[in-house]
Formats: sequence, structure tokens, C-alpha cells
Amino acid sequence: MRIAMIGGGYVGLVSGACFAAFGHEVAIVEADAARLAALRARRMPIYEPGLAELVAEHDARLRFTASLAEAVAGAEAVFIAVGTPTRRGDGHADLSYVFAAAEQVARALTAPTVIVTKSTVPVGTGRRIARIVAEARPDLAIEVASNPEFLREGNAIADFMHPDRVVVGCESARAREVLARVYAAVATPPLSAPVLFTRLETAELIKYAANAFLAMKVTFINEMADLAERVGADVGEIAHGIGLDARIGPRFLQAGPGFGGSCFPKDTLALVRIAQEAGAPTRLIETVVAVNDARKAANAARVIAAMGGDVRGKTIAVWGLTFKAETDDMRDSPAIPLVARLDGDGARLRVFDPQGMEQARPLLPGRIEWCDDALAAARGADALVVVTEWKQFRDISAAALLAAMAGRVVVDLRNLLDEAALLEAGFAVVGIGKG
Ligand code: UGA
Repeated sequence: MRIAMIGGGYVGLVSGACFAAFGHEVAIVEADAARLAALRARRMPIYEPGLAELVAEHDARLRFTASLAEAVAGAEAVFIAVGTPTRRGDGHADLSYVFAAAEQVARALTAPTVIVTKSTVPVGTGRRIARIVAEARPDLAIEVASNPEFLREGNAIADFMHPDRVVVGCESARAREVLARVYAAVATPPLSAPVLFTRLETAELIKYAANAFLAMKVTFINEMADLAERVGADVGEIAHGIGLDARIGPRFLQAGPGFGGSCFPKDTLALVRIAQEAGAPTRLIETVVAVNDARKAANAARVIAAMGGDVRGKTIAVWGLTFKAETDDMRDSPAIPLVARLDGDGARLRVFDPQGMEQARPLLPGRIEWCDDALAAARGADALVVVTEWKQFRDISAAALLAAMAGRVVVDLRNLLDEAALLEAGFAVVGIGKG
């Protein structure tokens, strides 16, 4: 079937490429000329493992265009995957791009079609889109559906191709039939992923509820880590011990520097606002937001304490800048407040990230030194701070680190490195949640 995707950003690109892999003909609309040129030359504007290969493999069924009208012509489903940045001041998602896209699509359509939102949008947006579309094209039977995505950056293709579930909010048999065909490749054997059809509002809320729950789970284990440090317990063993309970489950129990990225921070905040306005405040998620903000602000203090309370004039190596591994995304990364504070307190910073350096440059202070690899960053450093859990950092031996560094302090905010080997080599190691 023919599908149009409005927006060649992260979600649009991954979803479009995966739909092509399902066997659909996909036209991706990208308004930014430079980004469009890159996509047409098959250069991926984002780092996502496997994406370039997937696009190359299904090239014949993928088209990139600036023309929305051309893309939607003959499409049975038009997906909207444009950005919804947090609006300045009030924490709400800015929906102007979504509404503008819906209206443009409606005006461009020549036959009945289903307009599907993939962007994460507040509860009630689908119904507002339905009104906008109906006003723009009273002559045409346009259905509206909500189909939230559950893709983790760095793992997005596997998440899309092997989903735990597909959620579709829609209220007509025709929309349901079209979306069932869109996802037939994963809904039928051997994958047989459950496809949940719900009301529009329910699908929209499932997305926020899923991210808020996961953010809460991460925040919970982070608080357990702080407690473990005080009482002489080990958070890794606590995570293992509770995760074996099938009701809890082992995933998203890795304590760390606090959650970041383009989703958890934005979506928890948006849910808090939505709930407040609906008169049903989510006190738990309000607390998750506050606890996580405080945690990200406190990472620098952990480093400063590990260095005896003063970092002025000290050289500190920082390994990893992105909000997690396997991405180049710097949005809301814990590295940002950490580096800013250490720099402000007079430390000399030497940083390295395998993918995020370009995105990080405009967000970090100008004085810091950008290094070519992890060992180069460690050279002559008094202390090393691990911020992102890139696997390659684990491969660097304690002996190599010993030879490179001037000092003997390692602050591992991800419990990534081999602590026993570092201790044996004479390092003082500060991990997370190790009492
Ligand atoms: C998240 C969700 O996992 C996806 O299902 C969802 O589709 C996506 O948001 C979205 O709304 O688009 P993502 O932001 O890519 O995906 O990253 P996660 O892997 O969920 O990690 C989020 C944050 O939590 C990161 O800062 C990560 O370091 C942190 N985290 C995660 C931990 O500190 N510990 C864990 O055990 C897991």
C-alpha cells in the first residue's frame, strides 16, 4: 500500500524506512532543504544503528520529497511525524507544527484517507485534528487515528520491526482496516504482535503512561541507589533481586546519572501539565520530574566530593556526552549540567563521545578540550568521569588508564567499568549505589 510520512526527523525516518521494509511504498516529506538533500543522497542526518543499511535495502520503495501534495496523492494512510517541542514557559507540547501539517494534508488530499499522528501529542489532540480536517475538507471522508511510537533511540529499528505491541486509536471500521493492513507484517505470524485498537484519547494517554512509568522505574532505582550508598547495600544486586520478580521485571532498573533524551523529560512534564489541567494531578510523576532534575544537578557534586571538595585547576576527563549510548542525541543529557558546573568551578575538562561531539559542541562551554578518543581524553587527567555507557569504554584496560592519567580518581556514573580491575590498579572508584 502507499503511505506518506510528513516529517523526515527521527521518528519519520525510522518509521518510513520500516514501513518500506514491511513492503509498503513510502514517500517521506521533508521541509528542510539541507536535510532533504542529504536524505536524497542517502546520507542519514541522524545516527541510528542499522538505519542507513535499512534505507539502502529498501531504497526502491522509499521516496524523499519536499512536496506534500505529491507525497499524499494516492496514499491510503498519511502519518504525521513532525516535531512537538516543549513550548516555552508552560511545559506544554507545541502543537503548531502538527496542526499545520494536518491542515495542509487535508487540503492536498483528493481521496478519502486516514491521517495518523505518530508525533507524541497531548490527550485530545487527535480529536482537535479531526475538527481541523473536517473544517478544511467538508467534502472528503478523512479519518483520524493516533498511532504512538515506542522506539528507543539506538534500538529503534528492532523496536519497530519486533514490537511488544502496536497501539492504534481510531473510531471507524475503515481506519481500523487501513491501520491493520499497515501493520500486517508484524501482526501476523510469526511475530503476531498484539495490535490494540482503542479510542483516540486512550491511545494518546498510553504513550504518556508508558514513558512516565519507565521514567518512574528509572527514578525509583536511582533513589534506591542513593539509599544503598548510605546503608551499605549494592544497587546492582537490589535491581537483580527485585527484577527477578516477574511482576517488576529486570529492565529499566539500571541506576545512573538521571534520565535525559528527547522523550522522558518532555513527556513526563507534559503528562504533569495535562493531568493538572484535567483536574487529576499525577503527584507521583510530578515527584519523578523533580527528583530527576535534582539528580542531574547533583552529579557534579559527586565528582567534586570525589576530588576532595575542590576541582579548581584540576584536569577532568569526561567519557560520554550523549544522554545514553548508541545515539548522537544530546537533548537533556546529564552531561550538560555536569560539564557546565565543573567548568564553572574552575576544572579543566577533556571530553570525548563516540557519536555526540558535533551535537554537544554548541551546548557545552567553549573552553573545554575536545579529544579524538577516550584514552586521549584521559591523558594527564586527575580524574575520569563516565557519563554515558558506551561499550567501547569498557574495553579500555585499567593498565592503559593508569598509564594515561595523572590522577587516580574514577567516578563511574553508569557503573560501566570493571571496578575490581580499577581498584586493583590503585584507583579510587566512585560508582552509583555501592555502599
Ligand atoms: C524512550 C522509550 O524507552 C521509548 O519506548 C519511547 O518510544 C521513546 O522514549 C519516545 O517517547 O520516543 P529513549 O528516550 O530513546 O526511549 O531512551 P530510553 O532507552 O528509554 O532511555 C531514556 C533515559 O533513561 C536515558 O537517559 C537512559 O540513560 C535512562 N535509563 C534507561 C536509565 O538511566 N536506566 C535504565 O535502566 C534505562
